Amino acid sequence: MSDLLQQLEALQAEAIQALAQADSSEASEAWYREYLSRQGKMTAVLRGLGQLSKEERPAVGQAANTVKVALETALQERQAMIKQIEIERALSAEGIDVTLPGRPQAVGKLHPTTTTMREIVEIFGQMGFQVYDAREVETDATNFGLLNFLPGHPARDMQDTFFTTTPDVILRTHTSPGQIHAMREYGPEPIRVILPGKCYRNEDVTARSEMMFYQVEGLAVGRNITFSDLKGVLLNFANMMYGEGRKIRFRKSYFPFTEPSVEVDVDCIICGGKGCRICKHSGWLEILGAGMVHPVVLQNGGYDPAEFSGFAFGMGIERQTMLKRSVDDIRYFYDNDVRFLDRVA
Ligand code: PHE
Repeated sequence: MSDLLQQLEALQAEAIQALAQADSSEASEAWYREYLSRQGKMTAVLRGLGQLSKEERPAVGQAANTVKVALETALQERQAMIKQIEIERALSAEGIDVTLPGRPQAVGKLHPTTTTMREIVEIFGQMGFQVYDAREVETDATNFGLLNFLPGHPARDMQDTFFTTTPDVILRTHTSPGQIHAMREYGPEPIRVILPGKCYRNEDVTARSEMMFYQVEGLAVGRNITFSDLKGVLLNFANMMYGEGRKIRFRKSYFPFTEPSVEVDVDCIICGGKGCRICKHSGWLEILGAGMVHPVVLQNGGYDPAEFSGFAFGMGIERQTMLKRSVDDIRYFYDNDVRFLDRVA
């Protein structure tokens, strides 16, 4: 009996010592296999119980149980400690320094075209104009014919228009075809809408022209709309867009879908009209085209020109942005150079 008790005592001492060396999950599992599993040393010792007499067995059995519980408890404590050690080891291996300042997040901005478009929408919104969304893909009829372009008009040339493989279907070259859609949808009620959106022209790309650009069209149709209304609306726009006290001037022009037609200038926002490089020493900057809706176009939109009249205008959004924010090349807009986008937005 004393032999077995001694063995138990020795085993406990050995096991406790070995456990102190185990410093990883793997090591603690190996230790369990060696001492406490069914193939382990503890089980081997307990097998000796069978050889003991009935009288000896309970005391030795109890001692063996105490050792077993002690080893199990020691293992649990050791495992908790190992877990802590392993967390610390992983953290220091990953090298996280929680005292370092964070990296700043790059925050996106609105595109300059979007910013200007929203300004224009806001200004005309205050004058009672609603936004009308019109399609970018048009037919020859709505882009040209119904807007009173004669069949041989130069704007129908290959250089100007992007055709598709479907006959008659083209990319719109201006937002004016939206006038026809808006009139046909709302007529014969009076309307006051602006139509912002993309336009396409099959042109050489230069500092002044892109093949894709944005326009905002404006259209008002009603029973008593006069040329003075057009002047008032555009003067108000110029003041809200380019600053209080701005002057505008109208120059006679030609568009097939307006009569009379004008080009509208604002006094140079850089030099105030004295003359500078930006206004080419004229004192004026051209901002848009406009006119009274041609009777033929009113009719094509479903309005009786004897009863209704209207005005329309159209402006390039990039052009307004270029004037307002001093950009000298339209190609910057869609080059996706974040330095430009960052500076101008
Ligand atoms: N559609 C014309 C253009 O693209 C602009 C315009 C619109 C002129 C409405 C008069 C009236 O140049």
